[in-house]
Amino acid sequence: MIDYRKLGVVSEKPHTVFEHEGKMVAEHVFTRDGFSDLYSILYQKRAPTHEVKVEAFESRNKGFPHEKDDGVELLKRRHLKTPKHPSGGTLLESRKTLFFNDDCTVGIARPDKQSDEFFINGDCDELYFVAEGCGVLQTIFGEIDFREGDYLFLPKAVACRFRFAHPLYLFVVEGTKEFGIPREFRLSQGQLRLDAPFTHRDFRSPSRLLNLPESENPPFVVKKLNRLSKHEYTEFPYQVIGWDGWCYPFAFSVHAYQPKTSSVHLPPTIHTVFSARGFYMMNFVPRILDYAKNAIPCPYPHSSVDCDEILFYVKGEFTSRKGIEQYSMSYHPCGIPHGPHPEKYEKSVGVRETNELAVMVDTFAPLKMTRAAVSLEDDAYHYSWNTKEHL
Ligand SMILES: [Fe+2]
Repeated sequence: MIDYRKLGVVSEKPHTVFEHEGKMVAEHVFTRDGFSDLYSILYQKRAPTHEVKVEAFESRNKGFPHEKDDGVELLKRRHLKTPKHPSGGTLLESRKTLFFNDDCTVGIARPDKQSDEFFINGDCDELYFVAEGCGVLQTIFGEIDFREGDYLFLPKAVACRFRFAHPLYLFVVEGTKEFGIPREFRLSQGQLRLDAPFTHRDFRSPSRLLNLPESENPPFVVKKLNRLSKHEYTEFPYQVIGWDGWCYPFAFSVHAYQPKTSSVHLPPTIHTVFSARGFYMMNFVPRILDYAKNAIPCPYPHSSVDCDEILFYVKGEFTSRKGIEQYSMSYHPCGIPHGPHPEKYEKSVGVRETNELAVMVDTFAPLKMTRAAVSLEDDAYHYSWNTKEHL
């Protein structure tokens, strides 16, 4: 989270008697890293502990990443055509993890049906990039209106539910630790540096409290160790009247990102947007390209020997790749070099701007592919750098 925020009513001092509408309300202290990191305090009509039923949650989605893939043994550059993954079902039904390691997972979800249940990710912080669609993200901290191009960040264990009218196309990243705003973008007091690629005003926390009708008492589906369980209460357990703190869900539009440009090519680290233990996220947004005489705007072929790299192509003409379609996902593992396709490299000379929009995940530990990823693969990709004159 980006800074201190407050919504609704809170007590004058934490951990003291606080009455609302003649009744004492309950505190719900939401902490990270034990009790040693960011926290928020929610004030609720009732403590969220009156659960009456728990059972395994049956979902036709078997896509969470303990499903290891046996068939992926070759070290190759890979191209997944994610539109081949059919849309359909609720968020949990349509969500597929495609890559994973101990620090993160990367996947997609294409829900076309709203779920009754709220989802709680008890394993990881989650980041959804909204490639397509709009709606309302309902959380226990309140509601956030979202639209195409938004990142939606959900701290671990924040209950959420998506409301939308048309199918969503979501790129989903989970991070196990320290996922959020890169430390290097902040001053020691927490304020964003003036040279950070975004400002505090770009981050949208919930704008209104969640106010479900009394008749609605949805269950909660919790993911822990990639197993799902369903939890029911006698009444909705998060009737929140206010909260404050530094830990909450937020939205950030990729269109608010302020890209840096240079006379010659800058490495992808300059496009960093989020970071976590074990990985960084970058985004490539429309921008002016390198302006030195004879500059080659395309990235140089490279061996980034400590990173696996995933790129999700959202929109526009991507500077360095051919054969890539909208919502393609490329995977370039460390161990073999990669770079722009030959024609792209040469043709980029003299190009002064790009309309590309893509999101990238660079991990420091190797990723594994799931079976779901294999089913989306374009087998020809690894050899697609070979043109007649290069063979
Ligand atoms: Fe790369």
